[in-house]
Amino acid sequence: MSNVKFLSGENVPLEMHKVRMVQRVNLLPVEERLQCMKEAGFNTFLLKNRDIFLDMLTDSGVNAMSENQYAAMLQADDSYAGSETFYRLEAVLQDMFGMKYFLPAHQGRACENILAQILVKPGSVALMNYHFTTTKAHISMMGGQIEEIVGAEGFKIQSDAPFKGDIDIDKLNEAIKRLGKDKISFVRIEAGTNLIGGQPVSMDNMREVSRICRQEGITLVYDASLLADNLYFIKVRDQAYKDIEIKDIVREIASLMDIIYFSARKLGAARGGGILVSDEELFLKMRELVPLYEGFLTYGGMSVREMEAMAVGLKETLDVDVISQTPIFVEALCNELAAKGMPVVMPPGGLGCHVDALQFCPHVPQTQYSAGALAAALFIASGVRSMERGTLSEQRNEDGSERLAELELIRIAYPKRVFTLSQTKYTADRLDWLYKHRELIGGLEFVEEPKVLRFFFGRLKPIGDWPEKLVAQFRKDFGDSL
Ligand SMILES: Cc1ncc(COP(=O)(O)O)c(C=O)c1O
Repeated sequence: MSNVKFLSGENVPLEMHKVRMVQRVNLLPVEERLQCMKEAGFNTFLLKNRDIFLDMLTDSGVNAMSENQYAAMLQADDSYAGSETFYRLEAVLQDMFGMKYFLPAHQGRACENILAQILVKPGSVALMNYHFTTTKAHISMMGGQIEEIVGAEGFKIQSDAPFKGDIDIDKLNEAIKRLGKDKISFVRIEAGTNLIGGQPVSMDNMREVSRICRQEGITLVYDASLLADNLYFIKVRDQAYKDIEIKDIVREIASLMDIIYFSARKLGAARGGGILVSDEELFLKMRELVPLYEGFLTYGGMSVREMEAMAVGLKETLDVDVISQTPIFVEALCNELAAKGMPVVMPPGGLGCHVDALQFCPHVPQTQYSAGALAAALFIASGVRSMERGTLSEQRNEDGSERLAELELIRIAYPKRVFTLSQTKYTADRLDWLYKHRELIGGLEFVEEPKVLRFFFGRLKPIGDWPEKLVAQFRKDFGDSL
């Protein structure tokens, strides 16, 4: 952890690593950036990486790996069944979480598919602090519903609450009473709650939710994809854990849960995923689905090289110098934007800096996808690719009407150990410029709208010629600068 004081007193995020391999990036002129955005249907998912300067879409599968992870990839055991690599990974996971069984899967949503198939019955309800897009889609596809029971602080853009991902215990009790425990498929806690700004969940909250679920006989599922950030926040925001080792915090969390699953594109800085469980009956039920959807039980759709990298990456997650890197850079960007008067989710979460599009460009109606429009405008202004996390990322209601998101955000993600302080300053500078010209940003409308997970490959167009006006203003203010 960068517990290093600067003479000036300034709080500077300090890299606890050095860079020994680099990838060249291109910064195209603003006119070309606009052209790329048009070709991508004003959807940042559809941009080509070669046209992007800073890819801050996500951390998923794009975190920087350590030299030890690369080294481990060379010793992978390529057998279809019974691979030594699997047993090495299994041992790391069992040691880390203290759970008996591990089922491999090719990524986080594949785990969600298996869990939904086993736990969700038509008409059942899954209670959770907040949904993630793929989680909700899998539950809906099995005929279930979700109900979000995050506390009120979770929806406040500016707040002092250190753990905005906490479940509201009154809402949990009320939902159990109203629905009856038999109608509840499971309760899910998402670490580092993604869609409300990467906000952590406190140990006290997990303990209480677990107590209630055990008392009622309801299965408690933990989505540990964003565990690394959450661990860091427990360590620095909860006095009681200041001196507790990360590995003991992980063990304590795991002892509260019935099932843990994760995307190793995030946790462990590799690519893959898996489910951990101690209950034999649940394990046997889920095990049947692994060969059907993923692959044989000792690889689950993953490359053995990735599994080796994951095993090392998971161990590195127990090192606070490693897991502090994303949160301290996110904090630096959030603080810089907030100091310039921009509306950012506070306190800073993990994963990325989240900007509130409703306050950034209040003149763009939410039905015209304000966060999607802001993400497009940011790319045109800077070559920085962010991700819309608002209404576009929602599914329409059953009657076809728009479901307006509670939070209309763009996420400027920090893949672990990838971006530098000058790149952070550049991003802040271009956002500052955009904020000063925010009245130029207009709305978007769909040209092609997929039915499921529409944000991934839906195509949109601007309402009016606001992107051209933005480009003209950029040229006026920045001359021939890129
Ligand atoms: C909290 C959370 N759960 C699940 C997933 C799905 O994981 P994957 O992208 O590996 O399918 C993600 C991915 O971003 C996530 O952030």
